[in-house]
Amino acid sequence: LACDKDQGRKRATLGEVEGILLPSTTVNNWDQIQKFKAKDDDLLICTYPKSGTTWTQEIVDMIEQNGDVEKCQRSVIHLRHPFIEWSLLPQPSGVDQANTMPSPRILKTHLPSQLLPPSFWESTCKIIYVARNAKDCMVSYYHFQRMSQTLPEPGTWEEYFENFMNGKVSCGPWYDHVKGWWKAKDKHQILFLFYEDMKENPKREIQKVMKFMGKNLDEMILDKIVQETSFEKMKENPMINRSTVPKTIMDQSISPFMRKGIVGDWKNHFTVAQNEKFNNDYKKKMEGTSLTFRMEI
Ligand code: A3P
Repeated sequence: LACDKDQGRKRATLGEVEGILLPSTTVNNWDQIQKFKAKDDDLLICTYPKSGTTWTQEIVDMIEQNGDVEKCQRSVIHLRHPFIEWSLLPQPSGVDQANTMPSPRILKTHLPSQLLPPSFWESTCKIIYVARNAKDCMVSYYHFQRMSQTLPEPGTWEEYFENFMNGKVSCGPWYDHVKGWWKAKDKHQILFLFYEDMKENPKREIQKVMKFMGKNLDEMILDKIVQETSFEKMKENPMINRSTVPKTIMDQSISPFMRKGIVGDWKNHFTVAQNEKFNNDYKKKMEGTSLTFRMEI
């Protein structure tokens, strides 16, 4: 195991599956993960890391619980929805957690579409994919790796910038991840959302999620969900902000888990030269796709 008995005193390491970097503990458990049995009434929340996963989880949970805040406080968010490829002791693996959970289940994954356990494609389960623009994703991921022992040290910002562009981060290249899932929506029931749209008009996007889930909640409940899932509210919520996670695993004095929650923070990190380099490379990697992103709103 990459993490020793001290539970995260040592940094996790990465391994590889089909050329995609993933936590070594995930790679070591790959057989179990691939054999995971999805069910038709599962709802899978899927994202590239740092794209608004936690936000979407809370939105989906609030809708599922018909806006009942207390029910959403039943446990910390990272234990409410099994994280399929999670395989870090002492917590049970994501697969084990999902297998003991009553249906209908809400599940989470960061896997690129080509590595998703095949049973998901064979099922009629619903999938919500949330995408966030690459520049903000990079910045958010960098700060997360600084504070979390569940991933390797990010190195300097300059080094991280190169590694992100080269896909040398956990879950592989951002570019292939978003393009792969964008394509997957032609063959499966996928609601494709954007972090930037959620920031711009949360109510509109929450309504989309509600319809996709086949729910019809009245206006008052919808407004309550909008309020409860705002960045400010979620940042103060101990069931969400990871304040229960020991400092040896996540050191929030380095960078808080609920960090800024805005669109365009990349402008505070990218130099002019980096931005130019990034844009040239981006154009090549995103050529030919109909998928477009807003880097500011
Ligand atoms: P920043 O680091 O840019 O602040 P994930 O849940 O996929 O790990 O994504 C984390 C990112 O989503 C962080 O971005 C976090 O602050 C942001 N986020 C979490 N909850 C949010 C909310 N309610 N509104 C806006 N952004 C949110």
